[in-house]
Amino acid sequence: MKLIITLLLANVLAAYALTDKEEWVNFKSKNKKVYKTALEEMKRFSTFQSNLRKIKAHNAKEEQGLSSYRMGVNAFADLTPNEFKDMMTLSNSQRPEDKEITPTKLHYDGELPTEVDWRKKGAVTEVKNQSKCGACWSFSTTGTVEGAYFIKTGKLVSLSEQNLVDCDKNNYGCGGGYMTTALKYIEKNGIMADKDYPYEAKDDKCRFNKSNIAVKITSFIRIASGDEQDLQEKVELVGPVSIAIEANKNFQFYTSGIFDDISCQSGIQSLGHAVLAVGYGSEKGKDYWIVKNSWATDWGMDGYILMSRNKNNQCGVATDAVVAII
Ligand SMILES: *[C@@H]1O[C@H](CO)[C@@H](O)[C@H](O)[C@H]1NC(C)=O
Ligand SMILES: *[C@@H]1O[C@H](CO)[C@@H](O)[C@H](O)[C@H]1NC(C)=O
Repeated sequence: MKLIITLLLANVLAAYALTDKEEWVNFKSKNKKVYKTALEEMKRFSTFQSNLRKIKAHNAKEEQGLSSYRMGVNAFADLTPNEFKDMMTLSNSQRPEDKEITPTKLHYDGELPTEVDWRKKGAVTEVKNQSKCGACWSFSTTGTVEGAYFIKTGKLVSLSEQNLVDCDKNNYGCGGGYMTTALKYIEKNGIMADKDYPYEAKDDKCRFNKSNIAVKITSFIRIASGDEQDLQEKVELVGPVSIAIEANKNFQFYTSGIFDDISCQSGIQSLGHAVLAVGYGSEKGKDYWIVKNSWATDWGMDGYILMSRNKNNQCGVATDAVVAII
């Protein structure tokens, strides 16, 4: 009897390990992961297994109707929560003091539409891939400027993050930065197109060429901090808005649905990641923001996430947001 139970247990364990192995092999091949040593691979596999368990436990909750979003294995599945956190490079200690930038309320009296999606109007470029460089701030910045330029001219031009990474010396390249600082750079110098100054995912020397400027902005508007109604007005009336958020350990594995996570922080010191609000809407009574990320199209829903809206400024969507004006 004891032997049978032991054998059964061994079988169950083997089957369990095998399932994980299969997912591991798929993960490695899909993401072209190669590890330097067997020890490193063992450590990564163990992290992967722990992430996989969290993902499966979360999805089981979702299947019982206890969560509004799903998680899944993606390119970040071999990172520990701390390693993932290290990728969030909007460090609060480097945040500039923008005393001179005061929020500009538009005092809009009319009724806002219940749904806006700037992608459908052609104001949003394809989802980009910041890769291992901590330049989320530059992607968020080009996003709001690309939108403003499209709304002004009807032309969609992909703008150069590398231009900002290399040349905006008031920011920190792949080490982090801020959208308001980057927008000041563009206000002063203009910015080149992606095709003339392509992304390299590393700090490089500045090769800005004045005779090749694609877009200049005249100013930018800061959203009243924490005010989702103001953010909604700016998204509808001005265009895609650069936002700073907390991207937590659940955000790391988001794959679909409306991301509603009460543990997500909204205070300015928690905002480590920069993204782009390109619209908003509601589904089954749940309001959401349509948010463009810069982690390529295999993260989230083809590179996008629906984040909770009107839920007490969850994840800080409206805490530190700004929109470019051409
Ligand atoms: C993102 O870029 C990195 C580095 O260039 C690459 O390894 C990774 O495969 C890219 N991801 C996607 C989904 O294209
Ligand atoms: C700057 O751009 C102009 C126009 O495309 C080009 O003629 C010139 O050679 C460029 N200068 C440098 C230093 O690359």
